[in-house]
Amino acid sequence: MSTTLYRPKRASSEGLVPLARRPAAQPRRARFVPWSAGSARIGCTPLVKLRLRIGHRWCDIWLKLEQFNRGGSIKDRTAYGLIEDLEERGHLHAADTIVESTSGNLGIGLALACQERGYRLLAVVDPMVSEYSLDKMRELGATIEMVRPADASQPPLARRLARVQDLREHDPRVVWTNQYGNLANPRIHRDHTGAEILRQLGHSPDAVFVAVSTGGTLKGISQYFRAAAPLCRIAAVDVEGSVVLGGSQGKRSIPGIGSSRQSDFLRDRPYDLASYISEAEAVAACHALRLCTNIGVGGSSGAVIAAAAHFLRLHPAADSVVCVCPDGSDRYEDSIYDLGWLRSKQINVEEGVTLPFDDIDCN
Ligand SMILES: Cc1ncc(COP(=O)(O)O)c(C=O)c1O
Repeated sequence: MSTTLYRPKRASSEGLVPLARRPAAQPRRARFVPWSAGSARIGCTPLVKLRLRIGHRWCDIWLKLEQFNRGGSIKDRTAYGLIEDLEERGHLHAADTIVESTSGNLGIGLALACQERGYRLLAVVDPMVSEYSLDKMRELGATIEMVRPADASQPPLARRLARVQDLREHDPRVVWTNQYGNLANPRIHRDHTGAEILRQLGHSPDAVFVAVSTGGTLKGISQYFRAAAPLCRIAAVDVEGSVVLGGSQGKRSIPGIGSSRQSDFLRDRPYDLASYISEAEAVAACHALRLCTNIGVGGSSGAVIAAAAHFLRLHPAADSVVCVCPDGSDRYEDSIYDLGWLRSKQINVEEGVTLPFDDIDCN
């Protein structure tokens, strides 16, 4: 099966040029300044191999650590793809205002791209957004609009989207990136995230596990793998209480993963397995990973690792899986890594949670 169909448009040798534009003119003997904004890139994030013990068996589990993107999450890729698409279609002009509904990470990615390209950003958020994300977006020049549901029965996302609609109707210079329906969202993950994983790994894994919210990441990775490595199973990972893949709505507190609306990208079910993880199990997996390996990830990554372990337990012949980890622990110190917050959300990890793996190790 050929992979050329999905070769990234601008990539040179082995994707060593990540998504961000090359800096214009490089001084011949540039001093390496690791913290300079110019050295920060999107893509080419590390794929780190860990070992997961399931009973007596050790399996390879590869973590695609998206926290190494410039804004700290996989949504930097999505933001880049959405803005490039609007520019290419001639829908963005200088001094336009980009508006988007965000739970935080996409807002940070968009704020970075807008700062770089000279657009204004209006991020529509709800009270579940973290202080970390608000601070980051403001630091990058974004305007924040906090919406509060009119009544308890209205999901915060519905209120956010209604506000986006209002803003568009009242100002023709407001342009919506629409992460929920713009095909540029899955496309960037098909052309880059999916391709990058297979190239870095060098062989087809037994399965790839991807957390869902809009479903854009999963759709794009699935499109790439279905063409380039059709035997690899694609697993959608959601949390209990979310309706991204269907089902009924319940209480959810972990930001990023899940949604109160079904994904438009996943209506054709581009996945082989669907896994629903409880918030307690997702959090416990995060804590176990950080304790055993020093790798800190967000709640959706914990869900993905737990789902992968359930799969390995059920499939004794499988021994190599990839987990896409959307972000790191930096933005969750005062939530999923804070016992007070966990208690306030009734996510009970203190009495111990039975995890689907017996040990996790970096050797
Ligand atoms: C923190 C985070 N970022 C990104 C994603 C992927 O989102 P999407 O399905 O919108 O591509 C998830 C999904 O769970 C997530 O938790």
